Amino acid sequence: MERRLLVAFLLLLPLLSVSCVSHQKSTVTWCVLSDAEEQKCLDLAGNATAKNVRGNLQCVRGLNTGDCMDRIKNGTADAASMFADDIYAAGFCHGLELAAGESHNGLDGISYYVVAMARRSSSDLSLLEMHERSSCHPGIRTTVGWTVPIGYLVNTSQISVGEQCNFPRAVGNFFGYSCVPGVKDLQHDPKGNNPKNLCEACIGDENDRHICANSHRERHYGEAGALRCVAENLGDVAFVKHTTVFDNLDGKNQESWALDLELEDLKLLCPDGTEAGLDQHEHCHLAAVPANAVVVRMEDKCRVWKYLERLQNVFGNATEGFSLFSSAGYGQSDLLFSDATHHLQRVLGSYTSWLGPSYTTMLQAFECEGFC
Ligand SMILES: *[C@@H]1O[C@H](CO)[C@@H](O)[C@H](O)[C@H]1NC(C)=O
Ligand SMILES: *[C@@H]1O[C@H](CO)[C@@H](O)[C@H](O)[C@H]1NC(C)=O
Ligand SMILES: *[C@@H]1O[C@H](CO)[C@@H](O)[C@H](O)[C@H]1NC(C)=O
Ligand SMILES: *[C@@H]1O[C@H](CO)[C@@H](O)[C@H](O)[C@H]1NC(C)=O
Repeated sequence: MERRLLVAFLLLLPLLSVSCVSHQKSTVTWCVLSDAEEQKCLDLAGNATAKNVRGNLQCVRGLNTGDCMDRIKNGTADAASMFADDIYAAGFCHGLELAAGESHNGLDGISYYVVAMARRSSSDLSLLEMHERSSCHPGIRTTVGWTVPIGYLVNTSQISVGEQCNFPRAVGNFFGYSCVPGVKDLQHDPKGNNPKNLCEACIGDENDRHICANSHRERHYGEAGALRCVAENLGDVAFVKHTTVFDNLDGKNQESWALDLELEDLKLLCPDGTEAGLDQHEHCHLAAVPANAVVVRMEDKCRVWKYLERLQNVFGNATEGFSLFSSAGYGQSDLLFSDATHHLQRVLGSYTSWLGPSYTTMLQAFECEGFC
C-alpha cells in the first residue's frame, strides 16, 4: 500500500513540473493601480506582441492593493507586484504565492536593512536593554520606524502588549520619550489616548508648530529626520535604513545638522546587544526587508514566471525602445516594477522564503491586531 502510494507520487512528479510548459492559458492579466501604471502595462503588452513574445499581457485596473489580492483570488486578475507588508497579507490572509521577485543588486532579493543607529559617545547602550531610553522613529506604522523595531522589542520580550493588543500604549510605557511622527493623528489615535511621550523627542517646524506631524513639517519625520533626532542628541537610538546616513552625507543634505554629521560619531546597535561600525549592516541589523515581488495564485507560479522570464529577456536590458525597469516618460516612478530593479528572479519557495526569517518574525509580533 505504502509502496503503491510512493510509486503514484513518483509518477506524478514529472507531471507537476511540466504542467507549466504545456499550459492551456496563455494570457497573464496584470492588476495595475494608476493611469500611469496602466499606460506602461499597455505599452508593454503592445511591444511584447510586436516582438512575438509568446503569451499575452492584459491590464486590469484595481482600486487598491487589497482589491488586486481579491481579483487574483477570484481569477479576474493573475498577477500584481507588491511590497513586503502586502506580500505577507497576500500569503497569510489570502493563500496567494509569489512567481518572481525583484533583485536590486543583482545578487539577492533584499531591498534594504533596518538598522538601529546611535551616537558613538553613548556608552552603556544595548538594544537588549532599551527600557526608559529615548528613541527616534521615521513614522507611525512604517516598516522602518514601527513594524520592525517594535516587532523586535516584542520578539526579545522587552515589550508585551497584553490582551488589549495596544501597541502605542505598550511602546509609550517602555521608552522614556520618543518621536513617532503621526502617533497622535486621528487616524492612528481615534480615541486620543496614545501616550504623549511618544511625541516628546519631536520638534515640529521652525516655528514650533506641527509637532509630531506625520509629514516633513515635523523636522524629525522620515528616515533623515530620525537620524537628525539622534545627531541632535534628543534620542539615544534612531531606527533607519542602512543607507540613510550615506544619503545625508557629503553635502547631499544641506541642512546644518547634516553638514555637521561625522561618520565616526555614529555606530550601529546589533540585536544581540553588541555594537558595530556603520558599514557592518549585513551582520548587524534588525531585519532584512525584501524587495517587491509578483503575487499570483499557487497554480500560476510557474506559468507567470515563464512569461516574465521571456519579457525580461527582451525588455530587461533594452537600450532603446520599451524598457521593463524604467518608468521614464510616464510621470511617476516604480511602475509595474521598481525602477531600481536589476533583474527579476524566480521564487521557487513559499512567500515566507521571500520575506525571510527576520522580517517574518517581526510581522508575526502584530498578529493580535487581526492582520487580515
Ligand atoms: C512600445 O512602447 C513605447 C514606449 O516605450 C510606446 O510608445 C509604444 O506605443 C509601444 N508600442 C506598442 C506597439 O505598443
Ligand atoms: C472579483 O473580485 C473583484 C474585487 O473584489 C470584484 O470587483 C469582482 O466583481 C469579482 N469578480 C468575480 C467574477 O467574482
Ligand atoms: C524571536 O524570533 C526568533 C526567530 O528569529 C524565534 O525563534 C523566537 O521564538 C522569537 N521569540 C519570541 C519571544 O517571540
Ligand atoms: C542585463 O545584462 C547584465 C549584464 O550582461 C546581466 O547581468 C543581467 O542579468 C541582464 N538583465 C536582465 C534582466 O536580463
